[in-house]
Amino acid sequence: MQSWPYPRIFSHRLGGTLAPENTLTGLRRAYKIGARAVECDVKLSADGVLFLLHDDTLERTTSGKGPAGALSMAELRLLDCGIKHHRAYRGEVLPTLAELAEFCVAHGVAVNLEIKPNPGQDEETGRQVALQAKALWRDAAIQPLLSSFSPAALRAARQAVPELPRGYLVEGIPLDYLSELGQCAAATLHADHSGLTQEAVQKLHNQGFRVMAYTVNEPLRARKLLSWGVDMLCTDRPDLLLTL
Ligand code: G3P
Ligand code: MG
Repeated sequence: MQSWPYPRIFSHRLGGTLAPENTLTGLRRAYKIGARAVECDVKLSADGVLFLLHDDTLERTTSGKGPAGALSMAELRLLDCGIKHHRAYRGEVLPTLAELAEFCVAHGVAVNLEIKPNPGQDEETGRQVALQAKALWRDAAIQPLLSSFSPAALRAARQAVPELPRGYLVEGIPLDYLSELGQCAAATLHADHSGLTQEAVQKLHNQGFRVMAYTVNEPLRARKLLSWGVDMLCTDRPDLLLTL
């Protein structure tokens, strides 16, 4: 297999448990304790701006209500995405992909951009994430690794910017994983760590694929997965796993 530029430990949703998820405060906290790779969730606003949010709807992590994709970026920016985590984070705003890129390129932080399409926007979100990632990271030492649970989004990303690496996200490893990896020309399989075995990791490596395991929060489990040769771990506890 070709050499692989990405660090082993990715801080999940930017800061893991260090701060509200998918926020610039989380990103800065993770960086401060040594994280040099982060994962985040990317979707489209109603007026076509890429921003960071995990859910399809706003209620769980922001002061807003309803589908996130129904609001323009200006409307999304009025929401508070810190207060639901803790009142100490009042005033945190939803970051754009451009803001993420600015910090990561300047500080040498690698990114895994998880494409999280609003319902019905798989192709358009995949295409936009790929095109904008290419432009925003043009001066970066390490290119963004794109991933998605949506094969349609990954195929659209491939078509738009074939040179950006892609990862196919799954919970358990499906029977047809080889065909899906092939259709989007993915370099990696990103799997829930609880279903991974040493044999599965070996088989994927033999077939030429890298492996990311998510979401790994126990140091003992992380050590085991790394001993099997898992290439990358995504964690809510960068504070625990970065010291391994
Ligand atoms: O990329 C790993 C992980 O982020 C996938 O699950 O739901 O946290 O986006 P989720
Ligand atoms: Mg994610």
